[in-house]
Amino acid sequence: MNGQDARFRLMFERSADAILLLDTEANLFVEYNQAALDMLRCSREELSALHPSVLSPSTQPDGASSFTKANEMIATAMRNGSHRFEWIHRSPHREDFPVEVLLTPLPLGDVPIIVVVWRDITERLRSEEALRQAQRLESLAVLAGGIAHDFNNLLAAMTGHLQAVRDLAKDAVVVEHVTQVEHAVGRAASLTRQLLAYGGHGTVAKEPVDLGELVREIVDLLRISLPPGVQVACTLGDGLALVEADRGQLQQVIMNLVTNAGEAMGTSDGSITVRVVGRSLSEDDVQRDFLGQGLRPGSVVCLEVADTGVGMSPEVQARIFEPFFSTKASGRGLGLSALRGIVRAHHGGVHLQSAPARGTTFRVALPASGLTRVEAGPRPARRARGQGTVLVVDDEVSVRRSLSLMLRSLGFDVMEADSGERALELYAEHGRSIAWVLMDVTMPRMDGHATFLELRRRDPAVTVVLCSGWAEEELLQRFADQPPSAVVAKPFAVAELLAVLERLGKVG
Ligand SMILES: Nc1ncnc2c1ncn2[C@@H]1O[C@H](COP(=O)(O)OP(=O)(O)OP(=O)(O)O)[C@@H](O)[C@H]1O
Ligand SMILES: [Mg+2]
Repeated sequence: MNGQDARFRLMFERSADAILLLDTEANLFVEYNQAALDMLRCSREELSALHPSVLSPSTQPDGASSFTKANEMIATAMRNGSHRFEWIHRSPHREDFPVEVLLTPLPLGDVPIIVVVWRDITERLRSEEALRQAQRLESLAVLAGGIAHDFNNLLAAMTGHLQAVRDLAKDAVVVEHVTQVEHAVGRAASLTRQLLAYGGHGTVAKEPVDLGELVREIVDLLRISLPPGVQVACTLGDGLALVEADRGQLQQVIMNLVTNAGEAMGTSDGSITVRVVGRSLSEDDVQRDFLGQGLRPGSVVCLEVADTGVGMSPEVQARIFEPFFSTKASGRGLGLSALRGIVRAHHGGVHLQSAPARGTTFRVALPASGLTRVEAGPRPARRARGQGTVLVVDDEVSVRRSLSLMLRSLGFDVMEADSGERALELYAEHGRSIAWVLMDVTMPRMDGHATFLELRRRDPAVTVVLCSGWAEEELLQRFADQPPSAVVAKPFAVAELLAVLERLGKVG
């Protein structure tokens, strides 16, 4: 081999793209470089024995037969001097993978040779898809947020007029109908609030939060609500950085992930692993896992929730962050949408890995604040100082569960009632040991206000905090003649509830 040949040989061997010479008459690869072997994960001997047709699945993504289509591509290359196209390849040693192919017939010698160049585009397609997905969610969020905002104003108008009808109504039947409408309007209001959070318009009250500690508190409580066959393990890194975050919203993130993981087990046994670790993300890491989200490279605190449940197909994965997308009979499809909005409002990112029957791992990364627990000094003075038992009254089990969780994390014991009637029964029985009552306004039959009035009648000293999807001013106005101890607008952050409880002297 002369010097020039040797140089070309070296260029061929060292190319990052796979280069193969195809003898179209014998239909065999007569030459190939190291990149071709790497891409197919084959040895030289193995590839020399492989017929080119086994390197493709039987059909391509457009449904065409690979065999027919390959012949068409070769014919086009012959006609035009070269041809570039995308193709799915198959190898016995890896999953099918996408490549960009360039075919160039070599007009030398008597053997009809085509130079085949393959460039693996797995990464490129993946990041294009991630970007498309992020943009789609972004526009959905803008749309949902915009509608929710206008919708909220309409609901406010309805509330006002309903109040007027209630004041004018002389007939008990009319009042009952008005109550039902108010109930529906209240639910619509709390739904729009969640959509506002998804659109990134939710209020965020940020403070330095130790994510590991938050996880420890919540997971212990969530364990109780999971089926007994589901094991939960927690791994929390040491000396984790704090994150600047809204505690209540982060609780919601953890709760949504762990609840979904539990639900993914169905009736089978399984395990959930929750990890909190500190990591440093490079530009590449962000490009790969968090493309198109608000996360920047640098130090992050990662919350990982892995389950051994049913897993998800790529089709389901593509839609899980859409509001109202759910595969569950009981699901509303707002859990992960709210999570996405919250993560975005915190300039974080979310990434998942899942396959049917292979379980799911969600990873939420939040920027580290640069403070660690020690540097942050004594923990904020306003944590977990509740004492005594709280009676939580709400007809919706998911709301009751999250309220109970919040209260337990503050140090309270909790008793739950699913209706006004049940609340009165429990209060009659345990009134002495109940420190205060947290109650939803809108419940079927006996609503929160009526229940509150009855409780007050029986025990003038009872402390009742009413909560509702209504705005706080509306609540205050509505209960002006017989005000409860306090009102809070749902959904509320721990900080808001704490402020109310401090005012009432219910936390020490
Ligand atoms: N850990 C998981 N394993 C398998 N599928 C999951 C998991 N987490 C989410 N999913 C899928 O994503 C969908 C959307 O989840 P999301 O939490 O937003 O709504 P949901 O759980 O159906 O209803 P809800 O509003 O009550 O949370 C689920 O219906 C389910 O198909
Ligand atoms: Mg859910």
